[in-house]
Formats: sequence, C-alpha cells, structure tokens
Amino acid sequence: MEGEVTKNLDETLPDEIRVPITVSKFLLREGDVLDQNVLYYNNLKKGKVLTKSDISIIQQLDEVTEVKVLRLKKIIDEEEEKEKEKTIEVVGPVAEEKPKEDITKLNDVEVKMGFTDSESDRKISLAIKKTIEKIRGEDYQERVNTISNNITEKLTETSELVGSQKLEFEKKLEEVARGFADVFSMSRLKSLKKKEDVISTNFSNKSITNYFYDLVIADKLSFINGARSIIVKLINSFGDDNGGIILSGLLQYSDMDDYVVSHSMFVMGVSILIAKELTKMVYEKVLNQKDNTKINPSILKAVSTKVYDFESMINLGLAALLHDIGIRKNYGIITPDTKITDIRNSKIQLHPSESSFFAQRINTDVFVQRAIYEHHEYLDGSGYPRGIMRYMSRFSPILTFAERFSELVLNNPFIPKPLPPAIAINHILKNEINKFDKDVVFAFIRGTSVYPIGSWVELSNGTIGLVSNISPKDKSKQIIKYVFTSDLKKLSSPTYIDLAENPDVKITRILNPIELSMKVGDLRVYYFD
Ligand SMILES: [Fe+2]
Ligand SMILES: [Fe+2]
Repeated sequence: MEGEVTKNLDETLPDEIRVPITVSKFLLREGDVLDQNVLYYNNLKKGKVLTKSDISIIQQLDEVTEVKVLRLKKIIDEEEEKEKEKTIEVVGPVAEEKPKEDITKLNDVEVKMGFTDSESDRKISLAIKKTIEKIRGEDYQERVNTISNNITEKLTETSELVGSQKLEFEKKLEEVARGFADVFSMSRLKSLKKKEDVISTNFSNKSITNYFYDLVIADKLSFINGARSIIVKLINSFGDDNGGIILSGLLQYSDMDDYVVSHSMFVMGVSILIAKELTKMVYEKVLNQKDNTKINPSILKAVSTKVYDFESMINLGLAALLHDIGIRKNYGIITPDTKITDIRNSKIQLHPSESSFFAQRINTDVFVQRAIYEHHEYLDGSGYPRGIMRYMSRFSPILTFAERFSELVLNNPFIPKPLPPAIAINHILKNEINKFDKDVVFAFIRGTSVYPIGSWVELSNGTIGLVSNISPKDKSKQIIKYVFTSDLKKLSSPTYIDLAENPDVKITRILNPIELSMKVGDLRVYYFD
C-alpha cells in the first residue's frame, strides 16, 4: 500500500473489483477505499485508500460508528469463505482450536472488540494460551517435574503428612514448581533492550486500558480476556536482567496527562517485576543453597505465597490494572495538576472499596478483589480504609509497595514533586520500612537495580564499591565509588564511575555491610571523601 498517497478508483487495476459495503469502524481494513467523507478530517475524503493510521483516527471519533467503504471483492470472498469454515468448525464433531497467532500479533482494535464480542474474545483467549505455551516451551512439564523432585529431595520427611494434609502439600509443591519453571522460562525470552520499546508497548496498552475502564464503569463489559492480554503482552516482553530498563521505560512513559491510566500501568509493570524477582529469591532460598540443610515442609508452604506462576502474575496484573478505577469513576480524568484539595476534600478514601466492587462485578478472582480493597493498607496499621495490619490477599504486599513507590516517583496530584527512584527507595528504607513486606522491597531493589545510596555492591567488572549518588544523566542509574578490588584489597585512591555512561558495567550483587565490615574493617570512613 502506498502510504498516505490518495488513490482514486479509476486508477485501480482490472482485477481489483470493489464492492460498496458499510462496516463497523472497528472492522475497517487497511486498503479499504472511503466511500464517504469523514467529518473534520480534510484528508479523509471519499476515494482515500485507508492506511493504518487513518483507521485509528476514525476509530477514535465518537461521532462515527459505521463507515461506507469500497472493499476488494476478493477480500470479501475470502472473509465469507472463513465464515463458512467457522460454521463447519462449530457443527463438526472435532472442532479442534488451533490458534495461528500469538499475543504480539493482536492489534488494539481486536483487543478492544474482545471486550464485547464473543468471537473476538475467543480469539484473544487462544492467543493468550498460545503465547504462554510458547514462553513455557515444549519441555515445560518435564522441567516442572524435575524441579518438583529436586524440592522433594530438599525436604525433611513428609511421610507424617496424611489424607487431606498430604493432598494440600502436593498441590502446593506443584504450584511452587510451576512458578519456578515459569520464571525461568521468562529468562529464556528475548528481552527488550531499549526503554523506547517498553514505551511503545505501553503506549498501545494505554489506549486499550482507557477503553476497558469506560466499559467497566458503564457496566458494558462482557469479557475480560482483553485485559489479560495486556498483562501477557507485558510478561512476554520481560526477559532476564532488564528490570532496570523496564523501570526507566515505565518511568519515562508514565509522566503523562491521564494519571489513573499511567499510574496503573506503572504499578502493573512494577508489580510483575517484583513477582518475578520474588519467585527467584524463593528459589534460591529453597533450592540453591550451598549447604545441604533440609527444609521443613511447613516452610515451603509459607514461602509458596511468594512464588508466582503466570496465572498468578496475570491476576496480580489485573489487580494493578483495576485498583484505582474507583478514582476514574468519581473524578473522571485527573492529571498531575489536578488540585490536591479537590481530591482531599472528597471521598477519596472510598476508592479502594469502589474499585474492588468493579472488580467483583466483572468476575475477577476473589483475591484480586481483596488486594484492590487492601491497596492502601500498610503492615504497621497506618493505611486506609480500615487500618488493618495483616493482608487477606497474597497479592497485597506487592500491590501496596508498588502503589507507594509509584506515588513517590511519578508526577501526581498527591505530592509536590516526584523523587528519583533511588531517593524514593532510600526514603522508604529509612522512614517507611515497617509498612511493607521486606522481601518485597528487597525483590524490587534486586529486580530493578535501583540500589539505594549508601549500599555496598559488587560490580560486573569484579570491583566492590559504594553507591554514592544518582546519575544526573539517567535517574535510574547510579554513580559508584570504587573502593575495593574483588579480593578485597583497598584501592589507593577511590574512583567514581557513572553507570549511565558505562552501560557495560552492571551491579551484580548487593552486599551485606555487616559481613563486609568483618572482613575489611569499619566502613563508615568510606562514606566521606
Ligand atoms: Fe489508590
Ligand atoms: Fe493507586
């Protein structure tokens, strides 16, 4: 197709027989020729060959629902052929569903249609299934079994477990093994290397989310797989060791006009990053220890709430996506400039329960609804609406932390000025650590490399240093003061390296300052020049 060039009908080739039809704006196809003028848009006149961007403009016009176009006869024939196949598929005895496309091939329009149209919803659901299967790979069940056997070997006797206890334990074991296998499948994905890619993935998600909110609030949503597909798309774009890039992409993208959407997408990305890292941390605790200490089965049960397989990541993502929809309903679109008093003077404290009501109405998992209700509750009892000190949902510890972090780092109506990520983490560690699950905070730091100022870290070039400042070039990167060589010899004069300027050097590990000081003496001296 010739880009934006307007072609007229008489220029078309003889085999391009076109038929006039009227279609829903959501069913327009690239290459259709307009058979009417479109209001307000001078270049969308009768005779224009539609490009992708034309179609997306038309779809955003509230005044337009249907469009008259001339469509190639051969395309109409093909479509009819497909329709027939579908009918056969439904009446036939074995209607095997073989999706051809994965999630990356779905476009925004198809996803939007899926919220109300059962056929599109089915297509999205298959694309989700197919994408997850692709990430997991063919050897998935084998890997789950191997992991499950390895865990069993690490456990103290489980023979005293009988009846329902034994069944429950076996179920937990399977869940944990699946979570480990899923997270390691993600590390085999080709990861996004540039923050621009993260931004563009999110940009299309933003428009879908807006549409999703409108339908939920108007009680017009019939299917929810479109929302799941946003999360699966995100999971599919996470590789290994690119948490820092994802975070900086999310940050750059999120300082936008529509606060509830931008913030929710940000909370969703951060939550999934944490879930992934937390699962890895539990894996190390259970399976990757150097000594051969056995683990009590009850410990496995306790840590299993911190292991996330894809299904639970999707539920966590849904909680993040919907957690502030009550704000959208009551206040419409709010921006970082919305006057804080407008919000404070009102019934803002009701929004967790309102949001969870919407989540209930569209039939999400009960723990999704519960996490939404709890997303402003803190473990020290200082949150709202109820001031509880214990969460009912396993998704809440991650959601509450991601929520608080987002409040600190994004432009928003609740704070005067956002903080750089590392300063925000310093603030949380210093002043608010009792509000959060410490494993969650640590998983975030590890997964995103937002190491707080004052941390001792090991670098990929073997040296050991102190995080001394935030890079002025990229606020998600640090300046490191080199102090020791890898064999803990003190460097004669400490030098500084800006990780934003040296992308090859990465933080590989955060060190325990107490253990380090036992080897090299008092560390306090290094905090000053
Ligand atoms: Fe909220
Ligand atoms: Fe929020």
